[in-house]
Amino acid sequence: MNRKRTGFGTRSGFELAAIGSAVGLGNIWGFPYKTSANGGAAYLLVYLLCILLVGAVTMLAEFGVGRRGKANPVTAYKSFSPGWGVIGLLTVVIPALIICYYYVLGGYTVKYALSSFAGNIGIFSSFAGNTGDVLLHTVIFAALALAIIMAGVRGGIETSSKILLPSMIVLLIALSSFTLLLGEGVREGLAFYLRPDFHAISWAGVLSAMGQAFFSLSLGCGAMITYGSYAGKKINLFRSTAIICLLDAVITFMVGLAIFPALFHYVSVTGTAPSELGMGGIGLIFITLPLVFGEMPVIGQVVSLLFFVMTAIAALTSVVSIVEVVTQFIIQCYRIYRTRAAILVTSICLACAVPVAISLGSSLNGGSLLSLFGKNLLDILDGVTNTILMPLCALAACLAMGWCSDHSLSGEETPRQNSALVVMMKFIAPLLIVVIEVFGITDLLSSPGGAGTLMCACAVLVITAVAYYGFYRGRDTGSNRDEALLLEQAVEKRKAGLQRGWYPERDR
Ligand code: PHE
Repeated sequence: MNRKRTGFGTRSGFELAAIGSAVGLGNIWGFPYKTSANGGAAYLLVYLLCILLVGAVTMLAEFGVGRRGKANPVTAYKSFSPGWGVIGLLTVVIPALIICYYYVLGGYTVKYALSSFAGNIGIFSSFAGNTGDVLLHTVIFAALALAIIMAGVRGGIETSSKILLPSMIVLLIALSSFTLLLGEGVREGLAFYLRPDFHAISWAGVLSAMGQAFFSLSLGCGAMITYGSYAGKKINLFRSTAIICLLDAVITFMVGLAIFPALFHYVSVTGTAPSELGMGGIGLIFITLPLVFGEMPVIGQVVSLLFFVMTAIAALTSVVSIVEVVTQFIIQCYRIYRTRAAILVTSICLACAVPVAISLGSSLNGGSLLSLFGKNLLDILDGVTNTILMPLCALAACLAMGWCSDHSLSGEETPRQNSALVVMMKFIAPLLIVVIEVFGITDLLSSPGGAGTLMCACAVLVITAVAYYGFYRGRDTGSNRDEALLLEQAVEKRKAGLQRGWYPERDR
């Protein structure tokens, strides 16, 4: 029988897919608005430090958990001891929750890209309240991700990353060249972005930078565990992690270079006070930037098109990585073909995205339809995952790899112990993550709707634990090997003419 393997074909494919996961809306929208709220360059420096101290170590731990287990997060964690499996299941539940709102935001980016193409830049007020239109674009975005996932790890995720990520970088370079040449206001924008003002950064700013580094590197939500499980055993994970973190940081930095000059240009041309620019939440990319682009003479439409196509691509490669976490689990645990698993996951998450879209549209227009504890569903889901649950899973990955494993991260036969890394993974990163968690929750509790969000997170934890101990603990939750066997079976059946379909051929 012709042996099939699931997983990335090359090291660069693995790295590009992981960078594609990391670079997303967090870099393009979250980073600039948090930077502007926390003193510009000082925040940037703290952010880079957080990537170095906690982000990279946690990423390495997550890759390690995945590659050591060669399986979905549930099986991978179970291999430490059955009790750890709860964390594995939580690591599959979190991406499912994120997908529900990421789909909607992705839908927004698709709509903005298409309208920029048609020459309509300021569409916000007519679009956000039009649920039908929002859902249509959400479905388009989800379908693009589905097509990539159905084509398999190698044929879909790896190949698309090799095309999409470089295209995104080219768009970003073109975009920053345009905005840096705007003239008026550019110098002030660069000064704000690049000259650190350490007085402007508070403890809250440092914590926000840590949280941002985590979200931006896609940590604590299974993406890196799943991609790690598909990485070949000879890959040097230290090297790959360094490359991935470096590129994520460089791209984030360049996004700032593109956005701040444009914002300050707008400020100086229109006389708007910087404090009046709506920077918070999703206002920055969907309301403020379209205004800024609209004000640019002649090139506004081109810049808007470059920006939104780039954003849509970044969001797409990110969402693929989280849909893959859930899909991989369904394929392996229930032994069903990739095509079916991917369609199932996409349909369920799309159904859950509908209330999120309605709630978000209503809150953006000042309403409170489908809101919970006074917040729209996107904010609730974001609080539950990003602030509360993701640090928990990141902590578990560091503890598991630091204390309970001697898997060779360098890819060599005999693992080399790097004592600095051991200290980082066992003590420093876990400690910092606990700090992020505690301050994150305290901060959340002091904000409106915070207690409700915490309750929702506790409910997710309880349901996950019940599901794990009720269904999954005693069950064989499968591994990459089972996925490969399924693939072989499908190929054999196809050869025998028993099954039609195109899935098996794509995953060579
Ligand atoms: N890293 C992505 C971003 O910056 C978000 C993300 C988080 C993607 C978690 C996958 C998993 O937007």
